[in-house]
Amino acid sequence: MKKYIFTLLIIAFISSSCNKANISSEDKRLDQRVDSVMKLMTLDEKIGQMVLYTSDWDVTGPTLKSGYLDDIRKGNCGNIFNAHTAAYTRKLQKIAVEESRLGIPLLFGYDVIHGHKTIFPISLGESASWDLAAIEKSARVSAIEAAASGINWTFAPMCDVSVEPRWGRVSEGAGEDPYLGSRIAEARVKGFQGENNDLSDPLTILACVKHFAAYGAPLAGRDYNTVDMSERVFLDTYLPPYKAAIDAGAMSVMSSFNELDGIPATGSKYLLTDILRKKLGFKGFVVTDYTSINEMVNHGIVANESEAGALALNAGVDMDMQGEVYFKYLKKSIEDGLVDEKLVDDAVRRILRVKFMLGLFDDPYKYCNEEREKQLVYAPEHLEAELDVAKKSMVLLKNDNHSLPLKKGEKIAVIGELAASTRDLLGSWKAAGDWDFMKSTLDEIKLYNGEKNVIYAEGCKKMGEDRSGFAAAIAAARRADKIVMVIGEDWEWSGEAASRTSINVPGVQTELLEKLKALNKPVVVVLMNGRPLDLSKESTLADAILEAWYPGTMGGKAITQVLFGDYNPSGKLTMTFPRTLGQVPIFYYEKNTGRPIYLENPKYKSRYIDCPNDPLYPFGFGLSYTTFAYSDIKLSSNELTSDGEIEASVNVTNTGGVNGEEVVQCYVRDLVGSVTRPVKELKGFEKISLKAGQSKVITFKISPEMLAFYRADMTYGSEPGDFKLFIGGNSRDVKETEFKLK
Ligand code: GLC
Repeated sequence: MKKYIFTLLIIAFISSSCNKANISSEDKRLDQRVDSVMKLMTLDEKIGQMVLYTSDWDVTGPTLKSGYLDDIRKGNCGNIFNAHTAAYTRKLQKIAVEESRLGIPLLFGYDVIHGHKTIFPISLGESASWDLAAIEKSARVSAIEAAASGINWTFAPMCDVSVEPRWGRVSEGAGEDPYLGSRIAEARVKGFQGENNDLSDPLTILACVKHFAAYGAPLAGRDYNTVDMSERVFLDTYLPPYKAAIDAGAMSVMSSFNELDGIPATGSKYLLTDILRKKLGFKGFVVTDYTSINEMVNHGIVANESEAGALALNAGVDMDMQGEVYFKYLKKSIEDGLVDEKLVDDAVRRILRVKFMLGLFDDPYKYCNEEREKQLVYAPEHLEAELDVAKKSMVLLKNDNHSLPLKKGEKIAVIGELAASTRDLLGSWKAAGDWDFMKSTLDEIKLYNGEKNVIYAEGCKKMGEDRSGFAAAIAAARRADKIVMVIGEDWEWSGEAASRTSINVPGVQTELLEKLKALNKPVVVVLMNGRPLDLSKESTLADAILEAWYPGTMGGKAITQVLFGDYNPSGKLTMTFPRTLGQVPIFYYEKNTGRPIYLENPKYKSRYIDCPNDPLYPFGFGLSYTTFAYSDIKLSSNELTSDGEIEASVNVTNTGGVNGEEVVQCYVRDLVGSVTRPVKELKGFEKISLKAGQSKVITFKISPEMLAFYRADMTYGSEPGDFKLFIGGNSRDVKETEFKLK
């Protein structure tokens, strides 16, 4: 046994030293190192590397199995997820390296979606910052803390575009827009894998692009439900963020639960080979989602798990998460000629390659340093970073009569169960985040404004019909100058398996808000939620609305600092907030239709008889404690040649009395295409800071490549013709100009 490990390490050492000697043939050296291990492996050991089991440290799916330590020992499991801490991963790694025959090190995966211990805002919240540096920083800190805790692989970034607020997993993504989603996916991969994509760095971790693909478009917004869309919509709208993450260097991809066009993604050769490997040139490995191979029997695409395993391997799946299908059936499928053993070799090669890239063969315990873990987890600079990102993620949706910012020393009534909650601040997918040491929003407001100036009453729960606390809340509010009511969803009401048939504020929270408003005092609503909500009623009751999402470990402090104006809110919505669920799906890049709403005739046009077409709050919307004016939209030329570039510029002035930040957004519209084109498409944005009274000219470069789409003949490219260009602080209120593409 020991001799094999020694052999392995010698091989690794020799080739790694060669590796350093001739960096230009790194790939070749990598392949040599992989082949040197492959040569030693039995078929059972190869299949073992294609197996991923959860530890019992966390539960993220429907099935659990015991005995994974023995599986590791026997070489039947080469990868573990949901295990963390340096100590525990060291224990498991030791079994793999010192007790299995070949000593191949384990991958340790975990859902480090928006933080490992220091938890950042949920991803939908982070995306609302439109601050790519902040988003990268969040992923960087998350990777450092995860790597220090034994994790070398995160199941993130989630790159699923979605226009479905009923779907609870919109909380994990970057909203409805493919362009913004792509930039954010890149930033997250960079944060996880490091700006040089150096996976051998002990503080970088392997990113995993998920959920491939189009998981964000489930029928009726019901998680795991059928996805059906045209190939053009898939390629134009849903594919770009996955592509961007892969182009940024992500070395693993997770196949999704859903079917697309009748084929479950986990068994789709079109998705996992034709698109992912051939079209996108993906070189890493594909892991399934949790038992998604097994679930192809339920889908009805195969008759049994053995067939499911064959379909998955032939489609391009390299690793089976928790399903035990590859372990149980792959060897026999090879013997029966159902699958070619070469596919197993290809899969194992891709997995081992990544393990070499991570440096695991050079030092299997590089992520298992308990001293480093103590130093890095919850480091003060990490908590500071979280506070910063949390503040930048918040969106001011309403602020009548300058109800905000609050003034220090005002008598404030704080109402709502969520105001006193710490757990809810972390949202779903909180990984190893703790909350026992955290301060709630109420705690932080008391600290900031003085205990004697804060009166708290729960009023009602975040769900349920109990109104018994109303009276006390009203009494508390009567004694205050202003009311701050924190309302929204329980943290478990978004995330996986958390779809809703309503997007209203749950329970009787809004009923209590109505009673508080009747006191004729300024009422500020702070929202904690994981999806766009129908705020039609709340928007008439509240004088101010701050969308705080689930802002993370320092979230209570972040909310407080925004409420009191220490930070001027700068976030912008990345998903449309409808007036009612009846408008869904509703998104800014809609088509004009043959009977657009602006037609003269009052009846025969694309409209509702009971509701306007436009949303309550549009994509890209967010207010500030100051105001911004846009003027002088200009183009360097009104003609763009097929090999040229033009510049669009606008003057932005901070016309309010407060320094602030603005997200300047640039959209285009292709007026005539070989297929109909959206009325707007985001093509650029820049988040700027302006002092009170300051002006700045912001410029966007426009090139023909930015105007490309899948044309009528399914070729990808732009088409000559007339275009409109829009620049503004959201997708609705814009300055407009036009140009021709020659
Ligand atoms: C879950 C999720 C996926 C996650 C995986 C491992 O079912 O769909 O996003 O990464 O299982 O926890």
